[in-house]
Amino acid sequence: MMAQHISEKDLCIQDMSEKHVDRILGMEGSTFLTPWTRASFVSALRDRNGINLVCQYEGDVIGYLTSFMVLDEAFITNLCVELAHRKKGVATALLIFLINKVKLNRGAHIFLEVREKNIAAISLYRKVGFQLIGVRKKYYADTKEDASVMRLSLQAE
Ligand SMILES: CC(C)(COP(=O)(O)OP(=O)(O)OC[C@H]1O[C@@H](n2cnc3c(N)ncnc32)[C@H](O)[C@@H]1OP(=O)(O)O)[C@@H](O)C(=O)NCCC(=O)NCCS
Repeated sequence: MMAQHISEKDLCIQDMSEKHVDRILGMEGSTFLTPWTRASFVSALRDRNGINLVCQYEGDVIGYLTSFMVLDEAFITNLCVELAHRKKGVATALLIFLINKVKLNRGAHIFLEVREKNIAAISLYRKVGFQLIGVRKKYYADTKEDASVMRLSLQAE
C-alpha cells in the first residue's frame, strides 16, 4: 500500500543543532551498517561550511541531512528518514530545502555518493534531478560495494 505523503506545511525543516543529535543517533544506528558516531555529527555541526538540516513533524525529528559546501559545489554526506515515516515525501522535502539553500549561496552543483544497491535512495535522487556521473569501485569498506557518484547541476539552462 502506498504511504500517504505528509503535507509540506506540516513538515518543519530547520538547521540541525547539538540538541538533535541524541535523536538522530537512534535513527542512524538502526538504519546504517556503518553508522556515524556522535563525533561525526558534532564535527559536521562545527564545520563552518556545513549545511545540516533536520525535518520535524508533530514536534519530533523524523529525518535529517548533512552536507557541506566548498566554493560553488555542495556535497551531501548523510540522509536518513525514520523508518515509520518513509515514502511520505520527507527526504524529497529535505533535498528541495537544501537545493534552494545551495542556489541562494550561488552553488552550481550538488554531489553525492550512494551504494549502488540502494534502489530507494537512487530513485529518490533521480526523481529530484540527480544524474549518475561515475562509479567508485569497492568504495564501501564494510561490504566492498561500489558507490554510484551522482550530480545535480543547478545552473540555468
Ligand atoms: C532513501 C530514503 C532517505 C528516502 O526517504 P523517503 O522520505 O522515504 O523518500 P520520499 O518519500 O521523499 O520518496 C521520494 C521518491 O524516492 C523514491 N523512493 C523512496 N523510497 C523508495 C523505495 N523504498 N523504493 C523505490 N523508490 C523509492 C520514489 O521515487 C519516491 O517517489 P514517490 O513518492 O513518488 O514514489 C529513506 O528510504 C531512508 O532513510 N533510507 C535509509 C537511509 C539511506 O539509504 N539514506 C541514503 C544514503 S545515500
